[in-house]
Amino acid sequence: MMLNLEDYRRMAQRALPAFAFDYVDGGADDERTLADNRAVFDRWQFVAPVLKDASVRDLSVTLGDTTLAAPFMIAPTGYNGMLRYRADQMLAQAAGHAGISYIQSTVSTASLEDMPAGRKGAHWFQLYVLKDRRVTVDLLRRAREVGCASLVVSVDAVHFGNRERDKRHYRKPMKLSLGSYLNVARHPGWVLRTLVPGGMPGFGNLKPYLPPQFRRGVGGATYFAQQMDDTLDWQTLAWIRSLWQGGFYVKGILTVEDARAAMAMGADGLILSNHGGRQLDGSVSPLTVLPDIRLACGPAARILIDGGIRRGTDIVKALALGANAVLVGRPMLYAVAVAGEAGVAQAITLLTQEIDRTLAQLGCRSPAELGPHLLRRRES
Ligand code: FNR
Repeated sequence: MMLNLEDYRRMAQRALPAFAFDYVDGGADDERTLADNRAVFDRWQFVAPVLKDASVRDLSVTLGDTTLAAPFMIAPTGYNGMLRYRADQMLAQAAGHAGISYIQSTVSTASLEDMPAGRKGAHWFQLYVLKDRRVTVDLLRRAREVGCASLVVSVDAVHFGNRERDKRHYRKPMKLSLGSYLNVARHPGWVLRTLVPGGMPGFGNLKPYLPPQFRRGVGGATYFAQQMDDTLDWQTLAWIRSLWQGGFYVKGILTVEDARAAMAMGADGLILSNHGGRQLDGSVSPLTVLPDIRLACGPAARILIDGGIRRGTDIVKALALGANAVLVGRPMLYAVAVAGEAGVAQAITLLTQEIDRTLAQLGCRSPAELGPHLLRRRES
């Protein structure tokens, strides 16, 4: 029975070959930040008032011209086609129907043009900045043409994190070990759902920019890693801002100084993130720095956080500490791996119900009524 997002994780571990599950589930180095992203939510406890009429509730929040039916959206994740054929489309479709947004990654297996045309504000695009500036200009043009409402520029993966769980499955980069192949053979359902319909998924969105020898299968990954612009700085970010008219968010911010600089540069909002514990191990978790960043940026800044969000109570804590909304990554991938679009739809419903129940139990009718007065930091 699927009662919560952790149930989807357990089921995904069975449904996916180990290399694919670990690609999603893993973090960098010793995975301390990955663990802390969960643990940080336990450092705060609710102090719930009683006898307040919260019988009628509205969960929606507005971020510029995007209204979300509930205060979360699906985080950008690359290479989703490894979990199931057309996983990106399923994630986007389920998000669209539920009235939330899906952020499509630069390195998604689906091209921007092959995504379902959803409601206004449903489709956002996440940009990785590559060395070749023409790629950025072209990706932004394409994102605009398919109607992406907002742009998220991720700035925390310029140098890739050390993901050892991944490495153990390969004998050399992009070549699975014999053990991994045997493990794949024990997951015929995954082969049927993923490889049989479309072959080995490739970097569909980047395909126009890849040299021919990298166009098939995972070959693009190595090329992509080499093409990441490791000179990325504030000046380049300001140039990208000047090319984009819609909502503009910087993802991967964790310091007050960077938050101020991003807003001063003309960002509409920030996504506080340590990339789900996949980049700098030992990094602080977004929830920890959220109150200071909210204070520094003021009430008008749109501040989102992500990492380790698995329950509606986690989302409500983030909102009470100053977030406008949150992003959810891995759980949606587990859901699409286990049950496709219906799985994602159910995962969204479960989270929405949990948020609704938490608001009710806190005596709040909407996210706007949440605040730090409803939380207390645990003493030990
Ligand atoms: C990611 N993340 C990510 N972020 C990004 O900006 N572009 C990307 O292509 C990816 N790719 C990616 C793949 C996978 C498999 C994962 C798990 C994560 C990071 C992602 O957007 C988000 O910050 C984290 O996933 C949030 O943490 P949780 O919810 O997964 O704990």
